[in-house]
Amino acid sequence: MGKSEDLMPKIDRTSIFEKNVELSALGFDTRCVEVGNYSGRSAMPIYASVTGSEYQRHGDPSRDAVSSCIASLENAKYTLVTASGVSAMTLPMLGLLQAGDRIICHHDLYIWTYFFVREDLPRIAGVQVDMMDLTDLEAFEKAVSEKPARLVVLETIANPMLNVIDIEAVCKIAHAHGAMVLVDNTFASPYLCRPLDLGADICSESLTKYMNGHGDALGGSISTNSHRIYYRMQRMMGVLGCCLSPFNSFLIQRGLQTLSLRMEKHCDNAERIVEYLASKPFVKDLTYPGMETHPQHEIAKKQLKRYGGVVCFRLDTSHEKLYEVFLPELDLWKHWVSLGEPHSLISPKDEDKEKGIPADFIRLAVGLADCGDLIADLERGFEKLFYKD
Ligand SMILES: Cc1ncc(COP(=O)(O)O)c(C=O)c1O
Repeated sequence: MGKSEDLMPKIDRTSIFEKNVELSALGFDTRCVEVGNYSGRSAMPIYASVTGSEYQRHGDPSRDAVSSCIASLENAKYTLVTASGVSAMTLPMLGLLQAGDRIICHHDLYIWTYFFVREDLPRIAGVQVDMMDLTDLEAFEKAVSEKPARLVVLETIANPMLNVIDIEAVCKIAHAHGAMVLVDNTFASPYLCRPLDLGADICSESLTKYMNGHGDALGGSISTNSHRIYYRMQRMMGVLGCCLSPFNSFLIQRGLQTLSLRMEKHCDNAERIVEYLASKPFVKDLTYPGMETHPQHEIAKKQLKRYGGVVCFRLDTSHEKLYEVFLPELDLWKHWVSLGEPHSLISPKDEDKEKGIPADFIRLAVGLADCGDLIADLERGFEKLFYKD
């Protein structure tokens, strides 16, 4: 064992998850509220100390509280929290892969994960990366049986095309051929889907989105039932230093307590927005996993509790009019990039054209305002664009 392995944190962090076993009979909402903050105070204290019994990069009590709460929500034995959602995807790959490995990725991944696997991973680590459509299970089985792969990477609901991949089926095929599966569960959150229960080896979340839910903290989580994987993740955290700050731990712990309530409202609002958009003749390619016309609707029904807060579509208009007429007319729909926060956001997916996504593809991240007001706001934009000269 190398010297750096000897310098791994002295404190056995796995003990922070032991209490979760005791609490595993509790319902999901009770775990959101009760697990992690054992301070005896209504709000979790912020432990700002950089050092003490342990150095903050390796672990601190604020992070422990969030980690154990998320582990209990994901039905995971271990969770590590990171500084951002994207680091919760890149860290497992850097921690588990070695030069010469091959990985298979779903072709639609969050754009910065996509850049990492397409450009950085082959350049830095000499990893061979094959992108494919993982909704095609036959093609996947052929690809993984013809040539071994170390890891398969996908998103529960893919960003931004909203493909839903059959996680259980992918895991069975991958495991039969010796590959691990890493799932980014950000668009679902553990309230709608728990990938580890479906067989995934690692489940990552951007805590920035639904998990925190207030648009005021970046964060990420990596959950697993494997001690070996958890250990590799901790080791990687030691060298990358991409740990969640104590203040963001506090904010995320606070946000997690209302996860269920918020998810229900995101889903309610999204369903009503879909109904409204479906009635408009100028709305094209309306996409939402809850629609019966969605190509993977049956898988979504089986795999998700509800269908999430993201809706995509195109408009029968030009790129210029979209930017110059429609978007400036909207007040409640903010032209910002993110999702899973109280505000409702509208983002034309220009940045995703690298992946062959049409430049006029629009993503709505439906927020928590009154749905009637959100619909009235869209209606005003459509009026300007389509009903008047
Ligand atoms: C599916 C998905 N994964 C990961 C991320 C990255 O999260 P963060 O911004 O917290 O790094 C995002 C961000 O939008 C995302 O949509």
